[in-house]
Parts: sequence; structure tokens; C-alpha cells
Amino acid sequence: MTPGTVIQEVQAPASAPAPTVAMCRHHFPLLRQWVNGKPLIYLDNAATSQKPQVVIDAMMRYYQEENSNIHRGVHFLSERATEAYEDVRRKVKVFVNAGHEREVIFVRGTTEGINLVAGTHGRTTVRAGDEILVSAMEHHSNIVPWQMLCEERQARLRVIPMNDRGELELEEYARLLNPRTKIVAITHVSNALGTINPVREMIAMAHERGIPVLVDGAQAVPHLAVDVRALDADFYAFSAHKMFGPTGVGILYGKTALLEAMPPYQGGGDMIRSVTFERTIYNDLPHKFEAGTPNIGGAIGLGAAIDYLQQVGINAVQSFEHELLAYATEQVQTIPGLRIIGTAVAKASVLSFVMEGIHPHDIGTILDHEGIAVRTGHHCAQPVMQRFGVPATARASFAFYNTKEEVDALVRALHKVIEVLS
Ligand SMILES: Cc1ncc(COP(=O)(O)O)c(C=O)c1O
Repeated sequence: MTPGTVIQEVQAPASAPAPTVAMCRHHFPLLRQWVNGKPLIYLDNAATSQKPQVVIDAMMRYYQEENSNIHRGVHFLSERATEAYEDVRRKVKVFVNAGHEREVIFVRGTTEGINLVAGTHGRTTVRAGDEILVSAMEHHSNIVPWQMLCEERQARLRVIPMNDRGELELEEYARLLNPRTKIVAITHVSNALGTINPVREMIAMAHERGIPVLVDGAQAVPHLAVDVRALDADFYAFSAHKMFGPTGVGILYGKTALLEAMPPYQGGGDMIRSVTFERTIYNDLPHKFEAGTPNIGGAIGLGAAIDYLQQVGINAVQSFEHELLAYATEQVQTIPGLRIIGTAVAKASVLSFVMEGIHPHDIGTILDHEGIAVRTGHHCAQPVMQRFGVPATARASFAFYNTKEEVDALVRALHKVIEVLS
């Protein structure tokens, strides 16, 4: 299948057992909108993805038919909601190939997952003079929690550098790993550059020295098949809203032994086994890390998003997007003065660029007039902008519902940007 074969608004035949990538666009109601008198072209998927009707329906059904608090009541609805919520935990376990359901913790999103690890594992293992290793392409949410921990513990944040293509320098990484390194925290896929990092190899290198690794999977899970056990990741965090699910829910995967050794993150209901004024006994995994009423409706939506992605087929998604990105990369290079930021050999779904003499925000504004949604700015990765010597970039980020025709429209609109602004 090629990106050009995508046909908008095609109904899947009633007999079709599963949708193929090319048939999926019509599953996303929001994509039928017109913006500024033009059909919407949504190229801001790295910020958040659109939601298929099945996810919207699953959440609506939950609130209409099952809404109840979980783990607490013996009544019918509470048992039903608990079963539905725990069923999503089982789905996530299979989706990322975790070893056990207790290793799947519901959180608000990637940011909370990373903060949880920094605030528990980090606080119990990092001492003055220790080092925490992050990469030069991290999202702020995989920098700031570690920086806060370093400040508290008088530890040092060290940074794996990257080359001019936006690829991490592995020799330098090997040199940076040392007996003071307490944790490595790296992104699987960069939101600002699109680089797919060799996390499996990087994890093996850290493990040779006994150092645990947290992987920020926010931009990987919507685009690649992720197997946390094949990667041997110690922690892996991701957000539902970037993988066609709702906002406000995400997952932290952690290896049992590490999670068992960590103190709770927050105190409250559900994370306890018993409470007296003298002493609280904490609950078992995974509940120890899930204080208070969770985002039950959101978890139901995440479950529907996983079912949907599995039906479409993550491998089909990956190969389709790979071709679409290759096509877009080739096409935008025909635009005079345009420079792509992030030209790694291994990339996923992100095309960041600058145009000579034109501020990225002006690019974004003119594209918006054409009905095209891209993101402009530092993409919560200011150190990446500093590394490439630019204040900001314009970023088109793709999902499997985008088409070659949309890329063509983007290229036409970028020519218009030049006409209007140069
Ligand atoms: C690579 C990466 N990490 C972390 C995050 C933070 O995700 P969230 O805001 O869903 O917690 C993002 C969001 O853009 C991201 O792209």
C-alpha cells in the first residue's frame, strides 16, 4: 500500500474482518471538519492524535451504562466498572508485552509516569555526587523532574550529545556511563526531530554496568510496535492521548522488583491495605501507585484505542507512515530556503523545519489560513532548539490517517508562505 492510495471517506465493506490503514480515515469524525473554508488537514499528531469513533463511543457507553467507582463497592455497577478498568490493564500488558499486570500502573500521562519514577525510585537511590543521564533531545518532561531531583539531592544531570542529523552519539554515551550513574532516562522517539533512538542497544549498555533505564515512549507507542521485555526497559512511560485515546490517562510500566522496592508516590484511598493513626500498610502492586479515584472513563477509552490500533495493525501503521514521511521529506525539499531539522536515518512521523528569513509562527499562521494544523515553537524541547541554533521550528507530524494528498497541500501552502512573506 502506498500513501497515495488512501481514499477519504471510504466505507469499509460490511464483510471486511478488520479495517486496513487505507480505510481508516473515516473512523475519525473530527477529520471531516472544514477550517477557514478549507478541509482540515491535521498535521499536529505529535501534540495529540485524533480519536476514532470507537473510542468516543466506548467512553460514552461507560458513562451512560457503567459509571461507578472501582475497587470499593460490592454492587453490580461497581463490580462491572472494576472489571472493565482491570480488563484495560490486561490489554495494556499484552499491548506492550509486560510480564505481569502488576507492572502496569495507570497514571495521568507520560509526564506523571516520569515524575513518579523520579519522585520514588529516584529519591530512594540518588545521593549527593550521583549522576542522572538524559539525552540532548529530551522533552522537558524527561528533563525537569530529573533536574528537580538533582537539585534536591546535590546530584548531577549529564547529557548524551547528538550529531547534526539529530542522532545520539553512542560512543559518548558509553563514556558517560560510570559508577556514579544512577539512572538513564531517554526518549524512544524524539517529538522535536522524529529520531528513533536505538533504545534496546542503549539499555543493554546501561545494564552491563547495572544501571536501570527509563524510556519515554510518548512518541513511540502510536507509531511502532513496542515490546518492553524485548527492549528490557526498566520503566516505560506513555500517554493515551497520543495513541488515539483520551487525554488525562497514561501508563507507567515498571519491572516488578523495582516497583516493589519503591515507596508509594502519593498517599490516599486505594493505595492502602489498612490505615490506623499509628501506621499505614500499603497495598500491593499495582494499586500501591494508584492513590485516589483514577480516570476510569479515560482508561476505558485507552482500552478501546488499544483494540482499535491492534485491529488496524501497528506494523501496517509503521510501514504506511514510513512511506508517507519519506514522501513528505522528498517533497518539502523542493521548497527554496527550507531546512529540515532532524535528518536521522531512523525517523518516525515528524518533519520539523525552518524557512530562511521567515519565523515559524508566521508559517503556522499562513498554514492555518489554508486549513492546515501544524505546530510551531520549541515543542517543549528547548535544548534541541539550542543545539540546532534555531529559536523554533515548524513541525508537521503525521498519523496513519494522513494522506499523500495532504502532504501535497502542505507543500502548496508552503510555496504560498514564500509568496506572501518574502
Ligand atoms: C517525547 C515526549 N515525552 C513526553 C511528553 C509529555 O506527554 P504528556 O504531556 O502526555 O504527559 C511528550 C508530549 O508531547 C512527548 O512528545
